[in-house]
Amino acid sequence: MQIAIDGPAGAGKSTIAKQIAKTLNITYLDTGAMYRAITKGVIDRKIDFADQKAIAQYAASAVITFKGQRVFLDGEEVTEGIRTPEVSEHTSEVAPIPEVRKVLVQQQQRIAEGTDVIMDGRDIGSTVLPNADYKFYLDAAVSERAKRRYEELQEKGGLNGKTLTDIEADIARRDYNDSHRAVDPLVCCDDAVRIDTTHMTIPEVVACVIDHVEDGTAK
Ligand code: DC
Repeated sequence: MQIAIDGPAGAGKSTIAKQIAKTLNITYLDTGAMYRAITKGVIDRKIDFADQKAIAQYAASAVITFKGQRVFLDGEEVTEGIRTPEVSEHTSEVAPIPEVRKVLVQQQQRIAEGTDVIMDGRDIGSTVLPNADYKFYLDAAVSERAKRRYEELQEKGGLNGKTLTDIEADIARRDYNDSHRAVDPLVCCDDAVRIDTTHMTIPEVVACVIDHVEDGTAK
């Protein structure tokens, strides 16, 4: 079984996908973590963000592995290191590079081969797993996504002086970049079930996805 979950930043994709993976006892793959890992490698190696060729070359040689929810880049654990604001910011420069996407999409497709998997990202239903058994597009109002992100950062102590308005502007910028890039932009596929999570709790969204899967009605 293959399940694709797409949607904009902060719609709750990874939280929901992890819980569904656990409930259905299938593999979870966070494809955003792969784009983040390449970005961290680019920063660590001091590769110039304007040098797309060097970034693409690095992406082709980098080895990303997962052990459960832990992420490793070239053998070094980067689970926490890929979640910094610096990495989040620069990932939107790395993710649009066509050669980087080609390499990562191939890796994602290889991981999915012959495995029951739930993947979350921006282009899973459209590009990575176009024949997925179930496709979902999770969305929420930008103000609600900003509020969730603000509360999460507040809890972790990672606000660094940012206001709710700053966070909403960051999210709106990422939405624009993700949906307007030339290669594999964020789209809600015609055959995806769109769920607006603005007024839903996490357990409600999980139950909604599981209901669709049990009914076999999501595609
Ligand atoms: O889901 P996330 O916030 O961890 O994603 C990080 C970045 O990677 C974000 O800028 C969108 C991009 N991304 C992508 O282009 N394609 C994917 N399949 C997953 C993430």
